[in-house]
Amino acid sequence: MATRTGTVEEQADEFEHRQMEALGNRVVGKSLLYFLADGEQSIGDGFKVGPGQRLLMGEDPRLPQMPEKPTLLDFFKYRFAPGPQQHLLQSANLARRNGLSEKMVLACLLHDISVTGFIRSDHGYWGAQLVEPYVDEEVSWAIRHHQALRFFADESVGYEYPETYRRMFGADYRPEPYIVEAYERARKHKWYMSARMICVNDLYAFDPDVTVGMAEFEDIIGRHFRQPKEGLGNDNTPASHMWRTLRRPCNAL
Ligand SMILES: [Fe+2]
Ligand SMILES: [Fe+2]
Repeated sequence: MATRTGTVEEQADEFEHRQMEALGNRVVGKSLLYFLADGEQSIGDGFKVGPGQRLLMGEDPRLPQMPEKPTLLDFFKYRFAPGPQQHLLQSANLARRNGLSEKMVLACLLHDISVTGFIRSDHGYWGAQLVEPYVDEEVSWAIRHHQALRFFADESVGYEYPETYRRMFGADYRPEPYIVEAYERARKHKWYMSARMICVNDLYAFDPDVTVGMAEFEDIIGRHFRQPKEGLGNDNTPASHMWRTLRRPCNAL
């Protein structure tokens, strides 16, 4: 037992050492969210720097370097978690096989972009906001509303409440009132079925035996995602700061 603890400590020391080497004299100031995720209401040491140290501002040397003008694909490659990307690719693949429009295939490809690349809580809303300036309004609307719709069955298209949710959240889980309200509003909207199609092509998109490559969707991204010429984050849209934060998540301010 003592040896095992020692090993874990040694690993932690080694990790810390590697981080220090990469960072040089720079100190990472973490945001509240990182601490809240550990159940702590704190911003750690805040803005404390030791002698000869500086707070990290600018590119983070521990993360893969990004091109000056990053594209959506660069974010997939250099920032987003690789494993969960397969869920997005499989969803898009299923949507295409089911004959959905290119626009809707893109919606399926991006529907969980927030889970994969930014934040899990309220992921439909964050995801919609991230892509909103660059996609057709129907695409971001559908991404936003799949957040609520996935909790409610629609027999007309064979969508049932996901069995996996019963397992993950418990049989007694009930969506919060804002989700119920969003669902009821979406039900009456002209794009209801677009958001619903994300759910339909989402549910069966976790197949460990299928590997889908991003190359298969580069054409659709090229035709339906308005990639800014300045690079995501360098363009002046209401979502640019979110892309910049993803690029440099530990800027002190
Ligand atoms: Fe989702
Ligand atoms: Fe999903």
